[in-house]
Amino acid sequence: MPSASQAEGRASVDSVTDADIPEGVSSDAATSWPSRELIDSYLGGTHEMFAWRPGEVVEIDGEAAQAAARAYRDVLGQYASGVTVVTTVQGGTPVGMTCQSFTSVSLDPPLVAFLPMKTSRAFAAIRKSRRFCVNFLAADQTEVSNTFASLADDKFDGVDWQPTSAGMPRLEGTVGWVDCTVQDVHEAGDHYLVIGKVEDLGQGDAANPLLFHQGRYRTAE
Ligand SMILES: Cc1cc2nc3c(=O)[nH]c(=O)nc-3n(C[C@H](O)[C@H](O)[C@H](O)COP(=O)(O)O)c2cc1C
Repeated sequence: MPSASQAEGRASVDSVTDADIPEGVSSDAATSWPSRELIDSYLGGTHEMFAWRPGEVVEIDGEAAQAAARAYRDVLGQYASGVTVVTTVQGGTPVGMTCQSFTSVSLDPPLVAFLPMKTSRAFAAIRKSRRFCVNFLAADQTEVSNTFASLADDKFDGVDWQPTSAGMPRLEGTVGWVDCTVQDVHEAGDHYLVIGKVEDLGQGDAANPLLFHQGRYRTAE
């Protein structure tokens, strides 16, 4: 009687296909070649640094998971959105991040939401300050978007802004802004879902919003 582990070993050898065998090795090797899973367990698996949104990179392990992530990005990328920069102040210094996942939530009371990655440095600051300003970018602000999507230390270098009445950074040249206090934070996979209560808001000077669709910036015209 084969032991359970011997039976498992045979099952994994049986599952070897020609595609698993390196070029130049006889296909007879299928009877003795270790399974892809076994090779991966020695090599540490197939890792890919996967870009979900520009600047938002996650490590995905294994070919099936990578294919699923690509399908997720391709389908969800069909949904167009605006582009925002969410700001706060940390120890007297303005900080911020580019954020596509923003939405209005409730009129009474007035609530909005955005979803930062768990690794976001700006969100760590927002969690402490309990306040943030969401700036709705204008069509000519792709450079601002790229700057706030980067890991630069001083993203506000060369960016014009004014403090809101709560002291949050309101960028110049946007189509609008909302100044919020943090009402709730929920865990949501590799992101947080942040609900904000709108304390103040206003229209910006610009007329046309910056849009994001299929991984590219677009404008409405
Ligand atoms: C158009 C666009 C939309 C983005 N949307 C989001 C988003 O919704 N949530 C998120 O966590 N990151 C998003 N990012 C990526 C962040 O801006 C990026 O990870 C940034 O480096 C975070 O900065 P921080 O670590 O200083 O907070 C987006 C980037 C771009 C260019």
